[in-house]
Amino acid sequence: MSDLKYLFEPRGVAIIGASHNPEKIGYQVVDNIKNGGYRGGIYPVNPRGGRVAGIDACGSIFEVVGDVDIAVIAVPAVHVFDTVKGCARKNVKHLVIITSGFSEIGNTSEEKRIVAFARDHGMRVLGPNIFGIYSAKARLNATFGPQDIRPGGVSIVTQSGAIGISMIGKSKIENIGLASIVSVGNKSDIDEADLLEYIMDQDDSKMVLMYIEGIVRGEHLVEALVKATKKKPVVVIKSGRSKRGAMAAASHTGSLAGTDEVFDDIVKQCGVIRAEKIDEALDLCRFLADAPKPTGNSSVIITNGGGVGVMAADASEKYGVGLYDNQVALRDAFGGEVPDFGSTKNPVDLTGAATAKDYDGALGVALKDKRIGSVICLGCETSMFDAEKFAGVVTKKYDAYKKKKPIVFSVFGGEAVEKGISRLRREGIPIFGDVYDAVSCMGALYSYHRDREHNSGVIPEVNFDERAVKGIVGAAKAKGRHFLFAHEAQEIMGAVGITVPRSRVARDIDTAVKCAQDIGYPVAMKVVSKEIIHKSDVGGVLLDLDNDDEVLAAYESIMHSCREAVPNAHIEGVEVAEMVQSGVETIVGARRDRAFGPIVMFGLGGIYVEVMKDVSFRVYPLSTVEAMSMISETKTYPLLLGVRGDERKDIDSVVSAIMKLGAVIKGCPDISDIEINPLMVYDQGQGIKAVDVRILLGGDNS
Ligand code: COA
Repeated sequence: MSDLKYLFEPRGVAIIGASHNPEKIGYQVVDNIKNGGYRGGIYPVNPRGGRVAGIDACGSIFEVVGDVDIAVIAVPAVHVFDTVKGCARKNVKHLVIITSGFSEIGNTSEEKRIVAFARDHGMRVLGPNIFGIYSAKARLNATFGPQDIRPGGVSIVTQSGAIGISMIGKSKIENIGLASIVSVGNKSDIDEADLLEYIMDQDDSKMVLMYIEGIVRGEHLVEALVKATKKKPVVVIKSGRSKRGAMAAASHTGSLAGTDEVFDDIVKQCGVIRAEKIDEALDLCRFLADAPKPTGNSSVIITNGGGVGVMAADASEKYGVGLYDNQVALRDAFGGEVPDFGSTKNPVDLTGAATAKDYDGALGVALKDKRIGSVICLGCETSMFDAEKFAGVVTKKYDAYKKKKPIVFSVFGGEAVEKGISRLRREGIPIFGDVYDAVSCMGALYSYHRDREHNSGVIPEVNFDERAVKGIVGAAKAKGRHFLFAHEAQEIMGAVGITVPRSRVARDIDTAVKCAQDIGYPVAMKVVSKEIIHKSDVGGVLLDLDNDDEVLAAYESIMHSCREAVPNAHIEGVEVAEMVQSGVETIVGARRDRAFGPIVMFGLGGIYVEVMKDVSFRVYPLSTVEAMSMISETKTYPLLLGVRGDERKDIDSVVSAIMKLGAVIKGCPDISDIEINPLMVYDQGQGIKAVDVRILLGGDNS
């Protein structure tokens, strides 16, 4: 599906709706294409003919003589379908529909009609509701954005037109070159994932920046992101955090999954770098597009101020930049560059007396030394600090080493310094006014290369008794139920191989006693009724029953309280279960997410799940390495490692449970949510126990 070559390298472009009026979009697109240096055929189409932006216009697309790979459509919405029909007859390959007035305002049927027709006739649709496409390779600026775009290594895919147009302007001021910028708008056909699949194989594109609002085909996007990040850095800005789906969800997994954290975790799983702000994203682009791979996690900070040095060390910890700490080697390397009252420890402090010459010396050492993987160079304005001369050193060193060793700069000071920063940034040097901005870029570079290696984990195959699971689910659905009873959920656990407490359902008092004797004391008893969901609230659960008499009394008490609290409830019986030994209480869940398909969750279990929100998510399938990273990023993880002399817990069994729940959700479309809370985790080798299992049916309920 990534055959978008002619979208980025068209041989001829028709602009339908090419206006004679320079203030109109149809005129501006023609003017931009012409002035951008595009060398293929430019064919303005206007029923009145004449000339548009100095080019002869055709009265209709049929009058165009050459091949038309792209038709840019800028006619009012009511005329778009007829225009598309004409394009089909002219064998156009790609439709770039700028026109607004479709699904974004509820006119979904017309949009669908256009896309269906286009696809039936072998055309792909970009848009509608977009500002167009820029492709440096073809020198094609088929947008109504700024005219003068600087070609370079960054590809931008944006859902928001306005933000995209502003990014073009901003990247120009910041001197960030673009390989392409594509607006996806309503993404009725071509979406971010399609574009990513194409861009990831283009050598001229060094990295990708995506601005995403809503995700439609999340599974496809995840696949494309995983592949793309193996080839080049991908930075994503995502806005639009819907909590509505979360409110409607019936399980913890669902309500927690509605938050932005899911997206955050999933992009992390894909090796994507997430930016919150546009400026931050552009800083990352500038740096990541050119920076070489660092050797080892061993950065050196060079500074003339102790304070900024400490800040940079803090920022390094925050953003995962390891600092080189072989003190002997540091003293040997920097001893000749640092005055006696300075420090060769990392941060290397040249002191407030440092001049540009001192920086030159220290940078020279750090950049040449093979043990040092990257350099963070900081400067504070002092009377000894000549901003002009410092800028000279920065330019010289950056030019000499930019392809060999990653380096970032941060300088803090008055007007001369500010001017110097702007000038150097325009020259493409990664220099920042804020230490944290500089170090966060370095951190992103390390994290990108770390993830590339880490993502190569193998995805294990998970087998379970699919027939048994589908049989239980089918029977419940046939009775019109949208959830499974506890004993049915337990049977499903049996079919997938997750241990549950021993239990049986008793339909009368004598059987209850018999069950308790068989299971072994102490036992717990719980009411079984589809009308009673919150059993404890109505006296439907009694724990720690030690003998026959307590079971007899408990049976009567449960029946009495439940009949009183929910008079119309049909009570099927009472579940008698083994009392579970305590362990680390975790929650493990899986659900079918509307955007991303099957997702799995792990976190702190118990009754405070939603208060603590100590959970992490991943899309399924995932590698065991990824499942481990999902567990280890929660605050619950140290409990599993064993705190205060406790034994390490059976983490492998937790990983296996996560995989099994994911496999069930993927393999059984009738199940929408599975959640085990608590999943008791015992000492290493002692396994896990799924104490309470909740299973919801009904496909997609996100
Ligand atoms: N074939 C070819 N040309 C046609 C045509 C057709 N079927 N129908 C109309 N035209 C010509 C018109 O004659 C006009 O040319 P002229 O100015 O020389 O007479 C030109 O196309 C434009 O048509 P017009 O009716 O004037 O429309 P418009 O320029 O006011 O608006 C759009 C057209 C597409 C720009 C407008 O409908 C729209 O959607 N605007 C929003 C775009 C947007 O914001 N997109 C998202 C950005 S992120």
